[in-house]
Amino acid sequence: DWTMESFIELQVAEIRAKVGSGRVLCALSGGVDSSVAAALVHRAVGDQLTCVFVDHGFMRKNEAEQVKKVFTEQFQLNLVFVDARERFMEKLEGVSDPETKRKAIGNEFIRVFEVEASKLGQVDFLVQGTLYPDIVESGTETAETIKSHHNVGGLPEDMQFELIEPLRMLFKDEVRELGTELGMSEEIVWRQPFPGPGLAIRILGELTREKLDILREADAIILEEIRRSGMYRELWQSFAVLPSIKSVGVMGDGRTYEYPIILRAVTSEDAMTADWARLPYDLLHNISSRIVNEVQGVNRVVYDITSKPPGTIEWE
Ligand code: XMP
Repeated sequence: DWTMESFIELQVAEIRAKVGSGRVLCALSGGVDSSVAAALVHRAVGDQLTCVFVDHGFMRKNEAEQVKKVFTEQFQLNLVFVDARERFMEKLEGVSDPETKRKAIGNEFIRVFEVEASKLGQVDFLVQGTLYPDIVESGTETAETIKSHHNVGGLPEDMQFELIEPLRMLFKDEVRELGTELGMSEEIVWRQPFPGPGLAIRILGELTREKLDILREADAIILEEIRRSGMYRELWQSFAVLPSIKSVGVMGDGRTYEYPIILRAVTSEDAMTADWARLPYDLLHNISSRIVNEVQGVNRVVYDITSKPPGTIEWE
């Protein structure tokens, strides 16, 4: 009968047979699926696999460093870590329209990925973290198919790869089990979905470094408090959004005029619909007081109580 151990053995044998002595490429996003797929393929073909991680500068606090650490130190795989933060920031200068922003990030991602892929010379196979529901529902935009478009769509049209999709028979919970069996930490295996364009689409309107810093700090506090409360796994996503307005507040005997942070937390099965999470008041209180006390430039926290539809999960 079916166990995760025997699944790994079978997949490893299958991947080895398919790949032979070929070269394999994988775009790591830091998300659950690409991480587990990379670890499994690495188990099968070792150094024949190269992973590329593009740091666009819109990851959450410490996230890019964590990806680097896990894959180079724990898994010791070939990781090309591309620090493209400056390039992305330049491309987004003066861009405030959400779709223009998304396209600019997507295009830049393709360009950076192309350059890195071409440096590797001949690549024969490409790893994709496609799951069973992605195949069954192909055509519909689940979080994962959107993700794969953004994260692995970055390939030169004329490059010919054969795809390796080792998770194509699995559901999300099985991917988590597989990741755990492969020795991945719970922090990776239970990670909430995160959009390809990252924090850039959670800063409404034009990006600045100051806004990115504010959002990143507020987001880290939210995740810390949500984790501490034990609710992290039952929420589909929980994060901060930074609008481009300021409001008046009071601190000590001084008037303040600063940004609010919007807290967004939803439950969902597949991201097609979502319900705003009924977070306990005490948790809301802790998040709010920590953000206004610890994050410079924020004097107010509001909670988004809109479900999807009509609201989308992200604000852009
Ligand atoms: P919305 O905001 O449309 O989001 O309700 C649905 C789900 O998709 C995620 N999302 C993305 N994921 N690249 C991704 O990989 C993207 O460009 C992208 N846009 C939205 C979102 O976080 C939610 O889980």
